[in-house]
Amino acid sequence: MNTATDWTALRDDFPILRQQVHGKPLVYLDSANTGQKPQVVIDAVDAYYRDYCANVSRAVHALGERATAMYEGTRETLARFLNVHRDELVFTSGTTNAINLVAYSWLLPRLRAGDVVLVSRMEHHANLVPWQMMCERTGAQLLPVELTPQGEIDLDDLRAKLGPQVKLLAMTHVSNVLGTITPIREICSMARKHGVATLVDGSQAIPHMPVDIASIGCDFYVFTGHKVCGPTGTGALWAKREHLQSMPPFFGGGEMIREVSFERTSFNDPPHKFEAGTPNIAGFIGLGAAVDYLSGIGMAAIAEREQFLLREATARLRDVPGLRIFGAASHKAAVISFAIDGAHAHDLATLLDLDGVAVRSGQHCAHPLLQWLGVGATLRASLAFFNTLDEIDILVRALHKARQLLA
Ligand code: ALA
Repeated sequence: MNTATDWTALRDDFPILRQQVHGKPLVYLDSANTGQKPQVVIDAVDAYYRDYCANVSRAVHALGERATAMYEGTRETLARFLNVHRDELVFTSGTTNAINLVAYSWLLPRLRAGDVVLVSRMEHHANLVPWQMMCERTGAQLLPVELTPQGEIDLDDLRAKLGPQVKLLAMTHVSNVLGTITPIREICSMARKHGVATLVDGSQAIPHMPVDIASIGCDFYVFTGHKVCGPTGTGALWAKREHLQSMPPFFGGGEMIREVSFERTSFNDPPHKFEAGTPNIAGFIGLGAAVDYLSGIGMAAIAEREQFLLREATARLRDVPGLRIFGAASHKAAVISFAIDGAHAHDLATLLDLDGVAVRSGQHCAHPLLQWLGVGATLRASLAFFNTLDEIDILVRALHKARQLLA
């Protein structure tokens, strides 16, 4: 554990954590669903609306220039955070929007009957359904890359399925259900040897570990802002410059153009070519503040802290009779899915809520994975650096109590 950081003191940065729920202190263990926002993010959004609310990239007045500088500042901040070039970062409303942009703008024009799109069996629906829709339109096939019993990517299965017929491999960096951290560099390198393009869903990775997109060797990397302590409705697509240049725009409208006449329109350069209309200005300004906040703590320190919490939580949960944890990857983020024999996940989650403990229950937008696991629903505790050992103990005590009530 990092000893230099006072993790408990950092809780004061999150106003939401000060409240009680059903008369009990809130224990927030649902950070994989959405991350909580520190005061600096709330202040950044507030300051935009209070002090310099204006549209971006289209006003020369002082407010417009300030708003544009702050909004584009987030692009610089994110580019440094992820080690990419700012012009290769397209702002989107989140991961789902980013993946759909790649699906419609890059994949669809290239996909033919008989082609294959590969995804792992543990993808979130956002990294599965858009590809399935493209395959249905074209007669291509969507195939799963299988998992090992530990919930890791079966690299032999991937190797066997890669080939000239594969047009895209879309893979998560971290599973939102199992917590598995995939060996994404190795996977992208395997795909590259077969000339297969790769898209990495980094939604659950970016909040929890240092991510250097340039070193991964993928073609596309997508993520969402609200899981990185940022506002909802923010996210980004990073893509290789050559792809952004060759891809046609997905949405047409203001800001994405250079010149318009009734005969024809010429488009702006990437990334603006893909950012039609007034964006979520306040949201992206807040996202910049969120990334600055996390960088101030240090992503390596956050990863170390969360690994400590993961080890402790896993060990303490194992004391609950009848509790099974899903996902035993050797590299795991602080996401723990589990079930308790004889108790339904939603009933347990409702009882935990009465003790102030917020966890997610259900299928976690990953139906094919739950089918593979052979369970109808799981509970999921997902941790953030601000969680404490005391909170883990509250979760465990609440589970003991709920189990007895449901027995
Ligand atoms: N919000 C989704 C989850 O909870 C991605 O995992």
